[in-house]
Amino acid sequence: MEKIILTGDRPTGKLHIGHYVGSLRERVRLQNSGEYAKIFIMIADAQALTDNFDNPEKIRGSIREVALDYLGVGLDPKKASIFIQSQIPELTELTMYYMNLVTVARLQRNPTVKSEIQMRKFEANIPAGFLCYPISQASDITAFKATTVPVGEDQKPMLEQTREIVRKFNEIYAPVLVEPDILLSSNKSCLRLPGTDGKAKMSKSLGNCIYLSDTEEEVAKKVKSMYTDPTHIKVSDPGNVEGNTVFTYLDAFAKDEDFKKYLPEYENLDELKAHYKRGGLGDVKIKKFLNAVLEEELSPIRERRKEYEKDPAFIVEMLKKGTEKAKETAAKTLDEVKKAMRIDYFSGDLF
Ligand code: TRP
Repeated sequence: MEKIILTGDRPTGKLHIGHYVGSLRERVRLQNSGEYAKIFIMIADAQALTDNFDNPEKIRGSIREVALDYLGVGLDPKKASIFIQSQIPELTELTMYYMNLVTVARLQRNPTVKSEIQMRKFEANIPAGFLCYPISQASDITAFKATTVPVGEDQKPMLEQTREIVRKFNEIYAPVLVEPDILLSSNKSCLRLPGTDGKAKMSKSLGNCIYLSDTEEEVAKKVKSMYTDPTHIKVSDPGNVEGNTVFTYLDAFAKDEDFKKYLPEYENLDELKAHYKRGGLGDVKIKKFLNAVLEEELSPIRERRKEYEKDPAFIVEMLKKGTEKAKETAAKTLDEVKKAMRIDYFSGDLF
């Protein structure tokens, strides 16, 4: 069976380096591996509206930002179809049929949905559209018969829910849908990059993100004020590397070549960590190194992003073409689904 990728992001703002190490960097690697017959990257505006329905301008504006971030990191519209979810009504239609296969109780048990409901303080007033977004996500994935879904760890429950829907559909109707696999980063520090303040998650509302579009100065300032080890007061004090944001970021970003180039007195990250733990290594030095390591990766992204910013017509054209291509595939799957469900009334004799 040919391997197909579908993945995407909600357009609720610019993407940050947590998105990058959690999924974007991996997508580019997969795109360039040549192992995938088709790659679909979706800007999930309809899903973003499930908890931003009263702020459509935010979603609309973020489509441009996310598209620029995609191009910046090196997603290539020649190899991957980049498209906008809401412009493919087939996805909404699939959702309607899949809704019959999922109970409300099952949706309420979904751990990601559960924590989002708490965070957004919906309590007893959960919008039905929001509760059902995991079903819509199953439509996104199955419409393309995706085998592989590279996403962050928080999306695990969505993949489980999708697999359940696929099994149920195939059992009741006909084996039309494909059970997808999640693809997570093998680097543990990449699974959930903490905010620059050391808090568990990067989030715009906490102001603890480094964005892919940040300038060199902004990145430097954020690195300078980064949370380290509060008990490491004098340079000579022994320090902790666990829970130390600078080291978590180094785990996610530093390569041995970076040491050769910027910190040749150490072979690798293990040696740097050992010195920090022993004492005698100051925060200023490790932050300077982290800044250099980040710039190595972020500056080409920033430059590419800036180039594409100059050409909005190109972005619109890319999204149009990507959406057309995605629609073709989704329409084909929807036809098969309707046939399996015996609701393809006008494709032959109805009575
Ligand atoms: N839920 C994803 C996010 O929060 C976005 C998304 C929507 C998605 N549909 C998808 C991801 C399908 C992978 C596959 O960013």
